[in-house]
Amino acid sequence: MAQDAEPAFSAAAIEALLAPAVGRLEPPTSLSPLPYDLNAGVPDRDSLPVRELQEAFGRALAADAAGALTYGGQQGYEPLRAWIAARQSEETGLPVTSAHVTLTTGSAHGIDNIAATFIGEGDVVVVGAPTYPGAIRTFLARGASIIDVPQDERGILPAALARVLDTRRMTGRQAKMLYVQANYDNPSGATLPVDRRQAIVALAQQHGVLLVEDDAYTGIDLDGPPLTSLYEIAGGRGIMRVGTFSKTIATGLRVGYVTAQPEIIQRLVFMRFDNGSPPVLHRMVHEFLMSGAYDPHVARLRDIYRERRDASANALREFCEPYVTFHQPAGGFFHWLRLQPGLDARSVVAAAQERGVAVTPGTGYYASGGGDDRIRLVFSALGPDDLREAVRRVGEALEAVANRAGRA
Ligand SMILES: Cc1ncc(COP(=O)(O)O)c(C=O)c1O
Repeated sequence: MAQDAEPAFSAAAIEALLAPAVGRLEPPTSLSPLPYDLNAGVPDRDSLPVRELQEAFGRALAADAAGALTYGGQQGYEPLRAWIAARQSEETGLPVTSAHVTLTTGSAHGIDNIAATFIGEGDVVVVGAPTYPGAIRTFLARGASIIDVPQDERGILPAALARVLDTRRMTGRQAKMLYVQANYDNPSGATLPVDRRQAIVALAQQHGVLLVEDDAYTGIDLDGPPLTSLYEIAGGRGIMRVGTFSKTIATGLRVGYVTAQPEIIQRLVFMRFDNGSPPVLHRMVHEFLMSGAYDPHVARLRDIYRERRDASANALREFCEPYVTFHQPAGGFFHWLRLQPGLDARSVVAAAQERGVAVTPGTGYYASGGGDDRIRLVFSALGPDDLREAVRRVGEALEAVANRAGRA
């Protein structure tokens, strides 16, 4: 073989073989090697309930090793589904049973399972602007055409949503799905007020649009209990509520769930191609929940994250005003900063990087462009002192970019 011949399956050859959807997607957010990572929305490492999970794992294996270590079916471990259903039944007053719940490999996979079941090439999915890039990637990968709808600091604007849905109807390509984070939106931190929730549900029902309520951060409620869910307002009809134990127990578990009317759940279960999520983890999580350790653990997490939110908000006021403005989130992991006119997110991110701090430009959170004047800053992963130092450095970065912009 000639020395300079292309090797078989070169990078270029592999590229040529990729599915068309791959080229449509932006890369996912990643962990940063910088000393201060305010980029990845990850929970506090020190409060992982390691000992409790170790014990729960032991109990799960002792109780039924064969059950834990063999295939457990596509819908997942029934007692865990029943626990989730009982919680949601109590919360919503609706008759939620284990038949209304399917277990997924994290809520990211729940969204993918929903997309696999309902979204085909060209189907229209409406999302907020901004929204969770994981959802954008998932819907695009299934061929969706994504339309975004403007938000303000309290989330999606119902009047704008009505216009989008009416326009879709008039063009003959009706929207099929609306993806919403009602509580502590990633990235904007917005929480939809109840009147907007009611208006959004009414619009979805009027237009025959399936609702996806992504509840990833519910539980990380920093200013009191969450407002009435879209699921409750919709009476559990035409809605899929996606939840997860990632933020309240551990992201590494990959245990999430979807709650919906049983006709929908059956179709989601039908569209599983992975032989179900790990039964051993379902049983471990169930043991942990049944031990009574979960609620006090989540209460402790709320205290930790409230302290971090407040420390970072104070540091933002001290070091970053007047270059940024923001609305304090009532829960979740994120501050969403609006940059002063003339400052551009990418330059600020680069300047922060030079100072050892990773923050995320707003541009990745919009399905159809925008976010040059926005930065997402994660407050969940670092302790208050590190957060203060990181935000101080972001302040220096902002000042440097503002000075450069002033000179230009
Ligand atoms: C809004 C939102 N939904 C879903 C997820 C996925 O979480 P997981 O798959 O760990 O449950 C995330 C993760 O950061 C998120 O921010």
